[in-house]
Amino acid sequence: MERWSRRKFFLASLLSSLAAGAGKVFGSSPPVDAAGGAPSIPIASAQGTRPIIISSANGLHALDKGMEVLKKGGDTLDAAIAAVTVVEDDPNDDSVGYGGLPNEEGEVELDASVMHGPTHRAGAVGGVRRIKNVARLAQTVMQKTNHVMMVGEGAHRFAVDEGFEDMSLLTEHSRKIWLAWKAASSVNWRPGIDSPEWREHVAAIFGGDKEKIAYAERVIAHPPTGTIPCMALNEKGDISATTTTSGLAWKIPGRVGDSPIIGAGCFVDNEVGAAGSTGKGEENIKICGGHTIIEMMRRGKSPEEACLEALARIARNYNNDKKKLATFHIFFYALNKDGVHGAASLWRNHYEEPQHSVYAVHDGTEARLAECKPFFDEINAHG
Ligand code: GLY
Repeated sequence: MERWSRRKFFLASLLSSLAAGAGKVFGSSPPVDAAGGAPSIPIASAQGTRPIIISSANGLHALDKGMEVLKKGGDTLDAAIAAVTVVEDDPNDDSVGYGGLPNEEGEVELDASVMHGPTHRAGAVGGVRRIKNVARLAQTVMQKTNHVMMVGEGAHRFAVDEGFEDMSLLTEHSRKIWLAWKAASSVNWRPGIDSPEWREHVAAIFGGDKEKIAYAERVIAHPPTGTIPCMALNEKGDISATTTTSGLAWKIPGRVGDSPIIGAGCFVDNEVGAAGSTGKGEENIKICGGHTIIEMMRRGKSPEEACLEALARIARNYNNDKKKLATFHIFFYALNKDGVHGAASLWRNHYEEPQHSVYAVHDGTEARLAECKPFFDEINAHG
């Protein structure tokens, strides 16, 4: 099956996970016995489990790689990076790394951060062009420099000096969507009205493929902020995390979101747990979401409750005005030191489908999806 869109992948993953058995979707209503009594299949243990690795839903197919590292006794940050590298390398995932949707000039700009719990260290990169594995680049900043964050041209030069490949990150798929966005955004980027082709221009970009046209229309109307946060906890209780992204599609060149901001898109305290985010980074930066979640968990909140508290602060920034809040979407994910995980979404759905938002969990047996707790039960088209 050709996989070319985040949405298509997300739906395929969700449906296959659901088909594999309701009990495998953590947080879903467990089946009851014939008499309507106790659940016949247990749901995820509230006690948590170690080792464990979690990510946003687009990492479902990549968590095996991270779990492999954990099972071999490898480092927790190496485990998280092993997982997200699969997604960064995937040209069919347009939310991160190679094939990520570009800025308004057609240039892919990536952001990433890492935190290593056991050594209390951090690294981050922002606005990096032509380097696909920016999570590993952030780790290299952490390991090889006395800095925490490097951006733009300097970060690119550092990457090349460290042996990272310099390459174009635009794929044919992301280039076509960018051309369609330009045609939709400016009359100068489509044939004039004196041309017989002007009406069909966008359809022609995609060779008339209706599914691709519909996808392009959606990401043009609602520019996504696709991202993958990933948190890994080993048997001993050490925890690390990374968040990597191509950021907001069609952004102004130089725009940096929450993903590389330590304390917003990624935060770890080895005594407490880890947190990450996807969605509109600007809203997260204003509440230091990652740090907020860790402090809430330190005071005894569960990962899910802590994620909901971060969303409550975002909602409060708009006086809980649902009309204003409906102009964006945002998600938080958290894992505590005991291996208990949780996530929450501002709106119930992801993309335009009415299902609950989900995230990915691998607890040593297999990667599965779990439901995010919605802050508002309504659905919202923003992805
Ligand atoms: N959360 C990713 C971004 O806003 O760039």
